[in-house]
Amino acid sequence: MTKTNQPIFPNPPKKVQGYHTYLPDQVQPVGSLLNPEVYKQNQDPPKLFESLTIRGVEFPNRVWIAPMCQYSSDNGKATDHHFVHLGSMAMRGWGNVMVEATAVVPEGRITPEDMGLWNDDQIEPLKRVVDYVHGVRGIIGIQLAHAGRKASNPAPWTLRQAIEEEGYKGGVVVGEENGGWPNNVQAPSAISFNQGNYANPVEITAEYIENLKKAFSDAVDRCKKIGFDYIEIHGAHGYLIHEFVDPLSNKRTDSYGGSLDNRIRLPLELAKLIREKWDKPLFYRVSATDWLEEELGPEKNKNDEWAWWGIEQTTILTQKLADIGVDLIDVSSGGNDLRQKVKVGPSYQLPYAEHLKKNVSNILVGTVGIITDPHQANDILEDGKADVILCARQALRDIDFPLEAALELGAAVSPAVQYERAWTRMVVKRDHVDKASHHHGVSEVQGEEGQKDSNGTSKKRTPPPEVHSSVP
Ligand SMILES: Cc1cc2nc3c(=O)[nH]c(=O)nc-3n(C[C@H](O)[C@H](O)[C@H](O)COP(=O)(O)O)c2cc1C
Repeated sequence: MTKTNQPIFPNPPKKVQGYHTYLPDQVQPVGSLLNPEVYKQNQDPPKLFESLTIRGVEFPNRVWIAPMCQYSSDNGKATDHHFVHLGSMAMRGWGNVMVEATAVVPEGRITPEDMGLWNDDQIEPLKRVVDYVHGVRGIIGIQLAHAGRKASNPAPWTLRQAIEEEGYKGGVVVGEENGGWPNNVQAPSAISFNQGNYANPVEITAEYIENLKKAFSDAVDRCKKIGFDYIEIHGAHGYLIHEFVDPLSNKRTDSYGGSLDNRIRLPLELAKLIREKWDKPLFYRVSATDWLEEELGPEKNKNDEWAWWGIEQTTILTQKLADIGVDLIDVSSGGNDLRQKVKVGPSYQLPYAEHLKKNVSNILVGTVGIITDPHQANDILEDGKADVILCARQALRDIDFPLEAALELGAAVSPAVQYERAWTRMVVKRDHVDKASHHHGVSEVQGEEGQKDSNGTSKKRTPPPEVHSSVP
């Protein structure tokens, strides 16, 4: 007991119980709405900051981190880079953070430096990240993946450096001497993604498919041990699962090729087996189109055959995923055919998300792709076109996007306690609700550089023009 007549402050700091270092408690999740009784502007909050509960997991808001490969793993193991990268984002108010595409077998990595979850040594470094994110009251999930025929590549900057520094012009297959597996690149059919540039894959055997299911199942067991809040299956961007569903890359004659039912058999089996053993949220990332109308005509050709993978088949697949119990479809596009003509621009993949929202029952819909403005993001949700927003590049450019969005939209959300002093302009006790401040027509924010808002003044935050690179 302190015996003194000093004006003693009685409270000890609130700390996270059981965490292995001192960690101040955030008291409520970073990025969650502050008490609407006190912050009256939160009584009718922008939809972007409405929480979302899926299978008992409460996501504090709807502006989420999209999966992003970091090519910074050590034999598939998370490193300090991941701890800092994901941990920092959890401190900045994102409704969740997602671990990048994580291979369930070694040959399912895009690059030798990809994240993996095929052995128990990979549990501990990821658990360190997850424990920290939970320590700061964040939500964290993981994208489970297999790179299929696009495996054994170099990290993008390794290739860029070779091109820029040495004038390199050759292919992109990493050899065994650099940790690659050029002779063990697996695909539904032995068709290269880019002949002479990418690997020549071997056709997956029936035995490989059984082993693959087991690998996904084992990875889910590891996810349980790690304590992830949700799992996303990577079914997009021309990787293995997309390759299976797509008539252009799947020419199999067994029960996994040919008809649409056969081509979607693998993702449905995977979703089912994961759903049976994983009772937390399960998401699926889909490429909703190959963007091949201009090259190949309609998705279903005049002989009534599916010519390429598009939104009609995606809708059928998504309904079946919903029926299995997949909770959310994360709607991306492209990546499986070099002839793709992507119509890039703000919210460019939103029409596909919106289509699935309208046409599929019992599934939440996430949209991703050049969403860089708070009004743009919020209006998508207010207009009922999607249920959550995922950001990739915007998060890398502006890690504070969620809190800046709250400021812009007139909501008061919780900053990390350590950073409170930077957010006094946002955490203001208002005595009224000003819905008008957070609702604008989406069309107002979809323009190019220099666009004016409805008052004729230049908008503060203009979405920068993006190029569509081949996405992981
Ligand atoms: C650095 C980087 C890494 C990425 N890695 C993945 C990945 O691991 N899995 C995936 O599905 N998409 C990946 N993507 C694609 C993004 O998740 C996202 O769909 C795409 O970048 C479009 O969103 P944006 O305009 O907000 O960047 C990656 C994108 C970037 C920029």
